[in-house]
Amino acid sequence: MSQPRYYFPGDRRKADLDFANLGFDYTPCPYRFEAVFQHGVWRVRGLVEDTDMRIPEGSQCLHYGQELFEGMKVHSGPDGRVYAFRPLENARRLNQGARYLCGPEVPEELFVRGIEEVAAANLPYIPPHGSGAALYVRPFYLGIGHNVGVKPAKRYVFRIFVTPVGPYFKGGFGPDQGKDFMVSRLDRAAPQGSGYVKAGGNYACSFTPGQEAKDGGFVEALYLDPREHRYIEEIGAANFLGFRDGVLITPKSQSVLRSITRISLLEIASTSFGWSTEERKIALDELGELESAACCGTAAVISWISRIADADREWLFDFDERWQRLYDSLIDIQTGRGEDPYGWRHEIPV
Ligand code: PLP
Ligand code: COI
Repeated sequence: MSQPRYYFPGDRRKADLDFANLGFDYTPCPYRFEAVFQHGVWRVRGLVEDTDMRIPEGSQCLHYGQELFEGMKVHSGPDGRVYAFRPLENARRLNQGARYLCGPEVPEELFVRGIEEVAAANLPYIPPHGSGAALYVRPFYLGIGHNVGVKPAKRYVFRIFVTPVGPYFKGGFGPDQGKDFMVSRLDRAAPQGSGYVKAGGNYACSFTPGQEAKDGGFVEALYLDPREHRYIEEIGAANFLGFRDGVLITPKSQSVLRSITRISLLEIASTSFGWSTEERKIALDELGELESAACCGTAAVISWISRIADADREWLFDFDERWQRLYDSLIDIQTGRGEDPYGWRHEIPV
């Protein structure tokens, strides 16, 4: 993981990376952005170079999981312009989490300025247009302090690192790239709990279900609703989508993360394509009635589902051109390849 040379913030040379063949892995970039909250105010530290962080051993983020994170992508347009996708939505979701974890909100302007600065500073690592890769942006929020009691922190760190990434699920999207998922009997979230919050603890709890799925030869776990284990919740770190009788359906649940990709796809489906969409409970037993199924997220984009297996039954699905249309429309908007009728692209000054 050696870096070939030093890059100044905003250096216009491209990093010496095989962008077209990246996986969803961490490649250290030269700069990260940091702000700290203390005595009631956020202070911007700006761009920092150290990949490692020094925090008190008693920090709430370490012991009690007072941590939040976000994920979004930055793309290069065909003309070299650089775009983030709906960063304000991520800021709002992070702040919803901050309220839930009893910490201070990150001002939206600070959040968005931070993304602009860190993306621009790491310009050499923003994958070239057409490479199929993107700069993944990972804002995160830590409660810190010299503490041992179970209570919210008084000090916080907000940091954003970036890393160039390829497909989240190996093989990415394509007509021959259906993915197989396994129904998990374990839950990632409680019925009245924090499933809709992007808190680190929700993800540590998904390691065992995810590993069980992988051990069985599947890509990820599909979660059922934690109250009755009857309805589909989501898949790993992605929301579930299906077509039934021509309607694009997606689960309605308190314990599912509100995926920004999903709300964007529903908007494209209804507004650009005139398709009916519905957010409602989807029973596992209903899978046999679906024409096709997929999952979506920032990292996953859209992945269509070829198989869902439960202990004693399974459902098989074929590729559906409608996923391709949704995928292309979303990528056109995100990468600047097409029009942006919804105003979702946020141009980063570089
Ligand atoms: N569900 C979970 C649990 C996630 O972690 C993510 C990723 O952020 C998603 C769904 C997809 O959300 P988004 O489209 O906002 O990335
Ligand atoms: C994302 O899609 O951005 C995620 O956060 C998913 C995962 C990498 C946790």
